[in-house]
Order: sequence, then C-alpha cells, then structure tokens
Amino acid sequence: MIGKTRIFRIGTEYASYADIGRAAGTIIKEGGTVAFPTETVYGLGADALNPDAVGKIFEAKARPPDNPLIVHISSTEQLHDLVEDIPARAFDLMDAFWPGPLTMIFKRKEVVPEIITAGLDTVAVRMPDNPIALLLIEEAGTPIAAPSANRSGMPSPTTTQHVISDLDGRIDAVIDGGAVKIGVESTVVDMTSETPVLLRPGGIGIDEISDVIGKVAIGYLDRLLEEGEVARSPGMRYTHYSPKTWMVLVSGNSNSVVDRISKFVSDYNRQGLRVGLLATEETAEHIIADEIFILGGRDDIALIASNLFAGIRYLDGRNVDVIIADGSMRADGIGAAVQNRLKKAADEEFANR
Ligand code: TXA
Ligand code: MG
Repeated sequence: MIGKTRIFRIGTEYASYADIGRAAGTIIKEGGTVAFPTETVYGLGADALNPDAVGKIFEAKARPPDNPLIVHISSTEQLHDLVEDIPARAFDLMDAFWPGPLTMIFKRKEVVPEIITAGLDTVAVRMPDNPIALLLIEEAGTPIAAPSANRSGMPSPTTTQHVISDLDGRIDAVIDGGAVKIGVESTVVDMTSETPVLLRPGGIGIDEISDVIGKVAIGYLDRLLEEGEVARSPGMRYTHYSPKTWMVLVSGNSNSVVDRISKFVSDYNRQGLRVGLLATEETAEHIIADEIFILGGRDDIALIASNLFAGIRYLDGRNVDVIIADGSMRADGIGAAVQNRLKKAADEEFANR
C-alpha cells in the first residue's frame, strides 16, 4: 500500500459516525483494511469472506500465518452462516454476554476461508459491544475478520494513536472512536468440546462464565509453550503484548513486591540504568523511579485493565533501559487477564510469596 493511512474522525470531513460507517464500510467491501474501535481493543478489519482482503491483515501486522483470526458479527443470523453444531450452552452465553467481550469457538462451515482459521476446522466468532464496530459490520454487509490492530508481538492498541504508531501506511484507514472501554482483549472459550475450554482470559471473568454454563476447563497458560508442547490455541506459541524495552515483572504478596521493586530500582540505578516503573497506586507511593506510570489502585482492576497497554507503550517510549512491572493487583475477574498479559509481556518474572 502506498501513502498514509486515512484517519476517519468526526468533525473533520465527517459529521457523524453514520457517514464514517458508510465510507469505511465501502473500503471493507472493496477488499481493503480498516482499523476500528471495539470495547476491548482496536481491531484491524477486513471482509472475512474475501481471502485476499484477509491476507492484507496478516501482511500489515506481520502476523504468523498459522495464528487464526476472530470473525466479528453484528447479528446472530450471521453466526448461523459461519458455523455449525452450536451447543445450547453457547446460546446461553450469547444471551448473557453478546454483544460483549466473549469470543466463542465453533465448528466452521465451508464458507469460512482457510486463511482465517489457519487450516483448523473451527472458527472463533464474537459480537463486539461498540456502536462503531457494529455499524461498520452492518455497512460492510459482511462479517469482519479482526485481530488486534498492533504489529504482531506488540501490546494491543487502545487508542487510534497506538494503531497509527504501529500500522501507519500499512492499512487503508482507522476509525477514531477515542480510548476503548475495557482495554484487554475478549475472553476466548472453545465450545466444541463436551466441557467448554477457556483459551484466553479476557474482559469477562471465568466465574461469570461458569455462573451461566457450569464447569469450564482452563486451557490457557501464562507463559509461552515449550518445545514439543501442543497448543490448544495457536496464539499460545507466540510472544505477545511485549514492549521493545526489557521488562521485568515482580508479582506476589504486596509488601514483598514493594521491597523487591525498591531493591531492583536501586540496583539498576547503581548500574547507571534508567528505570521505568509500571505500578499500582499503592506501590508507586513507596518508590521513586526515573519514569513512572500509575495503573490505578490494586483493587480497581477495571481501571488497571483500561490503562495496562497504554502504560506499557508509554514507558516503552520514555527511553528507559528496563521496565519494572508491579504484579500486586488482584487476580480475580478481569484481573486474571491483567496478570496473564503482564506475565506474557515480561521477559523475566520474580514471584514473591
Ligand atoms: O478483544 C478481542 O478479541 C480483539 C478485538 C479486536 O475483537 N481481537 C483479538 O484478536 O484479540 P487476536 O487475533 O489478537 O487474538 C485472537 C486469539 C488468538 O490467540 C488466536 O490464536 C485465537 O484467538 N483463536 C482464533 N481462532 C481460533 C481457533 N479456531 N481455535 C483456537 N484459537 C483461536
Ligand atoms: Mg492480538
């Protein structure tokens, strides 16, 4: 693609999101790529039924071709066109959480291009809870395949600025819908087995899911797969959410975390290294570092989730030699997703009791 990425923004040449939806929908229909806000993170969309268009997503992100994409829909009718064997439990989850940050994996129909599923016989589907995303899918008149709109391996984008910084000139357009609401990606659940399997913790906590459908198996890891280990979800094989700067995660009991981080900061400083601290409010009160990004109070896990990726990106841009991340926030509900993203983003973890 030659030239710059168009930014669709209200108040410039467009008066309303309806205008933007039409313009961006046309790009999708014609086989182009459009980044758009969802309630979780920004997605990079293309016509899910057009393999050439989907190919442009992989190219723009430099995404490994064996990592499948989520297909986004705006109505449940579209689901029936894409998948078969929908279990009753899945309808219960749809009623409870769609539109919303829940992705479900089903047996795919023939129409779903192989490039989306990376050759698997299943496909991931979700209905996002964002009016711009839903309007775009409707205007395009087709389901939209969309991974997070970052360069492969980088933290997911939660603002248009993040999308532009990773993908300017590599995609046709981005719709600016401001900062996203949730800030971590959707919860992914495989519905094809007798007991549904949680493949990625996300915007909906596992307790909320088992409240609706009973037993759910845990099928995700907070680390990369080792040599020879089989992936339940192809995404588990790859580095994710990772800043360019070396990142150290200090997790565990809050008092020992504060002590450990203080010690790290002084050790690094003594070696002449500049330290960026990504911390909860409570930890930040006790520590002085060269650069600090405060995520929110330890118990305010929704706020922490919404700040997480922006914080990592911020410190990555502050010319520090090392980022120390504080893992003392709560780990239940959406906290499981926060902890998972921190562990995957970190190059090293020090777990305290
Ligand atoms: O919140 C979200 O889910 C965002 C927004 C844009 O909707 N999207 C997103 O997509 O996070 P992506 O591509 O970054 O993550 C999709 C995850 C990957 O870990 C992938 O391996 C997994 O879903 N996945 C997709 N299809 C799958 C399948 N058929 N079986 C198992 N895992 C699958
Ligand atoms: Mg992603």
